[in-house]
Amino acid sequence: MKILGIETSCDETSAAVLDDGQLLSSIVSSQYFHSKYGGVVPELASRAHQRVIVKVVDEALASAGVKKEELEGIAVTYGPGLIGSLLVGVSFAKAMAFALKIPIVGINHLEGHIFSTFLAEEHPDFPFVSLVVSGGHTMLVLVEDFLKFKLLGQTRDDAAGEAFDKVAKLLGLGYPGGPLIDKLAREGDPNFVKFPKPIPSSSKDDEYEFSFSGLKTAVLYYLKKINFQNLDEKEKTQIIRNVCASFQKAVVDALVEQTIKAAKNFNVKNISIAGGVAANSELRKRMKEKAESEGIKLYIPDLSYCTDNAAMIAFVGYIKLKNGIKHDYGLSPVPNLKI
Ligand code: KG4
Ligand code: ZN
Repeated sequence: MKILGIETSCDETSAAVLDDGQLLSSIVSSQYFHSKYGGVVPELASRAHQRVIVKVVDEALASAGVKKEELEGIAVTYGPGLIGSLLVGVSFAKAMAFALKIPIVGINHLEGHIFSTFLAEEHPDFPFVSLVVSGGHTMLVLVEDFLKFKLLGQTRDDAAGEAFDKVAKLLGLGYPGGPLIDKLAREGDPNFVKFPKPIPSSSKDDEYEFSFSGLKTAVLYYLKKINFQNLDEKEKTQIIRNVCASFQKAVVDALVEQTIKAAKNFNVKNISIAGGVAANSELRKRMKEKAESEGIKLYIPDLSYCTDNAAMIAFVGYIKLKNGIKHDYGLSPVPNLKI
């Protein structure tokens, strides 16, 4: 079964071709221009998707060596995401599926992230706990099968990636902040400032929530207290490194603690991490160490499948279509779609 996947929920325009679950091609066009605005500008994002979507889909088909007439289905992200961005992908997918008289299936972007781990050669057995951690989401999901999974908990406010981006902004670093903080933290002292752990204080032993907005505010108050703006350049450099390391430690502590707690409580021996923050070197290291010490196996897909991509959407589309699940051509985007 040859399937075309399309993803345009945020600032990546992506298309991929999958044949019976095997990835033949994956093309991602990233909108780097948002960095100068310090974040994704929705209107500019949707216009950029419109400009490149035809080219990206053509490239995915050409690089897979598949003609559009050979396609047997189209899978497209229909939420959650930015409405203008989602509209471009969904409208394009509907028109193409209608013209080719093939089924269309709308895919929840988060399901894409959860199952992105199956694009790698080595993937977890069911059941597993999936930590989806990106600029828009931070959640723990218990995955029992391809079509059977349950949200265990999520962030009450900011996503972890969003916290990285906001703290980077407070420190006068660029966007996206995650990779910059990751790098600077390597030169800093993680115990320099004791920031609050981003787990809600009411969180019990069977709760898996996060809360990152208080942590961001704690960084802001700390910088105000030490009069950061008036420090000389040398002092600033060292403070930035130490704050990056201390902030990152607080985030990683919480992500590791809640994920391992979920795995232990549900007696699950496999965990996976997906989403852009899975690139964080400290998170990868600490989660691996903790998982190993608990006899749990950790799976992290290749970085290109951690960030937004259509390969994961095509994969979930393949599972759904194989199980007779599809939408009609009236499919509409749902910006706040839940899992
Ligand atoms: O999944 P993604 O590419 O896009 C969505 O948000 O859907 O994730 C982007 C997020 C950004 O917030 C970025 O700062 C964060 O992932 N990120 C990182 C790292 N690389 C990317 N956060 C921490 N450490 C990193 N190395
Ligand atoms: Zn995403």
